[in-house]
Amino acid sequence: MDFALVRDVHIATVGITLTLFLLRYAWMLQESPRLKARWVKIIPHANDTLLLASGIGLALMIRQYPFVDAWLTAKFFALLAYILFGTLALKRARSKTQRTASGLAALTVFAYLVMVAVSHSPAPWSVWR
Ligand code: HEM
Repeated sequence: MDFALVRDVHIATVGITLTLFLLRYAWMLQESPRLKARWVKIIPHANDTLLLASGIGLALMIRQYPFVDAWLTAKFFALLAYILFGTLALKRARSKTQRTASGLAALTVFAYLVMVAVSHSPAPWSVWR
């Protein structure tokens, strides 16, 4: 498999996951029924599966792994946090205030994920200082 191709797929699915999250977050804030559309329950999950698969593929190709290389360990836990805050924001949290705050937390974690990916460091701010 071609590294550049898999990385392009990975980066494209990163963009799609963010776009779909922002769209659903906006619908949640507006209390729109569109949040319950059938495709909304399928497409984001299909994309996120591809995001994860391409990430794992890249890790195998560069022979760096979570629990071996610190930046990928950070990515692994940040991904769990992004999924957790994301589901809280879009459905699980009880009040709208909690859903709004969870969404902001998910977006913050997402920004961290991208910075970790680009810097290959679990503490990107120390690399760019
Ligand atoms: C929402 C989750 C994720 C985001 C936002 C994300 C973001 C990114 C971005 C922006 C890049 C490109 C970095 C660059 O070209 O400089 C990248 C590369 C990469 N990602 Fe992810 N990623 C995510 C999930 C994962 C997962 C789950 C894994 C593996 C367990 C993973 C492994 C990798 C690897 C190995 C690279 C290649 C780094 C390199 O070019 O040397 N990613 N990621």
